[in-house]
Amino acid sequence: MKTYFSFQSQATCHHTQARAGVFLTPHGLVETPRFMPVGTLANVKTVTPDQLQATGAQMVLANTYHLHLQPGEEIVARAGGLHRFMAWKGPMLTDSGGFQVFSLSEMRTIAEEGVHFRSPRDGQMIFLSPERSIEIQNSLGADVIMAFDECPPYPATRESVQEATERTFRWLKRCMVAHQRSDQALFGIVQGGIYPDLREFAAKQLADLDLPGFAIGGVSVGEPPALIEQIVQATAPLLPVNKPRYLMGVGTHREMVRAIAAGVDLFDCVIPTRLARHGNAIVRGERWNLKNTRFREDFTPLDDTCPCYTCQNFTRAYVSHLLRSQEMLAYTLLSIHNITELIQFTQRIRQSIIQGRFVEEFGHWLTDPNKP
Ligand code: GUN
Ligand code: ZN
Repeated sequence: MKTYFSFQSQATCHHTQARAGVFLTPHGLVETPRFMPVGTLANVKTVTPDQLQATGAQMVLANTYHLHLQPGEEIVARAGGLHRFMAWKGPMLTDSGGFQVFSLSEMRTIAEEGVHFRSPRDGQMIFLSPERSIEIQNSLGADVIMAFDECPPYPATRESVQEATERTFRWLKRCMVAHQRSDQALFGIVQGGIYPDLREFAAKQLADLDLPGFAIGGVSVGEPPALIEQIVQATAPLLPVNKPRYLMGVGTHREMVRAIAAGVDLFDCVIPTRLARHGNAIVRGERWNLKNTRFREDFTPLDDTCPCYTCQNFTRAYVSHLLRSQEMLAYTLLSIHNITELIQFTQRIRQSIIQGRFVEEFGHWLTDPNKP
């Protein structure tokens, strides 16, 4: 049988668990560690695929929950699948809808079979289960698909987190049975909330399954940042060393560096595009609002060390003007910059791991409590 996926480690750090690798998918390779931009509704907001490619993006996300509601997976399938539909030629990943059902929809009823919920779009009742999620993701056709999981809120009682974690594992096994396409890699997700023993139990159960990749879910749901770090440090090393590890929904500089040191390879977050829509640029890890008066007559690039299209061609004064005039181009230019900034950051980390200088170059993010 043809093997569509592989993960090769190219270099490992001698002081931490950081590694640089290459994840091969049917639509090309992903060099890790790497940040993945989010294209919830089959587009990364305000950015064309060509612009996205120029940011250095390799793998892009989309969402089962949103695409099921609109336009529906049949239409995406009839268009020739997600890649053709949105004209992204590189690797893609779809999230399962598990997380979104729990965070976005009202009137949920959770049972062993699956989740009933009311569509926020038109009020109709919808049912998602491990089988339905995988069926939808098989229709959408992303390279990587995610298991349908239950992400408990924070704070939650230990009993309810334990129940969600155990159910997530039973649901994973149903996902594996339902999964029909060998050209799509199904990743399992570790839950377990803030409880190290539940995390450990879940990670070890998952590691025993022969899956092409693993994710850490249920973080960044409102718990203190210090806890996120502890969870990741306790969980990542328990996942198979020869498979990609993906930390879901995390994309700040500090959290990514620390997770990479714990052996995480992939990240996603809506931060770069969401900040852009609010007029913010990420500059060397800080957030600047370009509407601020101090930028009105500032004729320098957003970041003079940034190779992105925005920084190569435009000034802070221009972006500030566009924002004040509510011109759409402002959001495109800021999104291009912000996405490039996060991808470049993970790429520089990758280079430092390969050159044996990760701790030397990025160690201050691991130790300095005041860095954002
Ligand atoms: N995105 C961010 N966190 C999660 C999670 O725990 N599960 C899923 N499916 N997606 C996520
Ligand atoms: Zn830039």
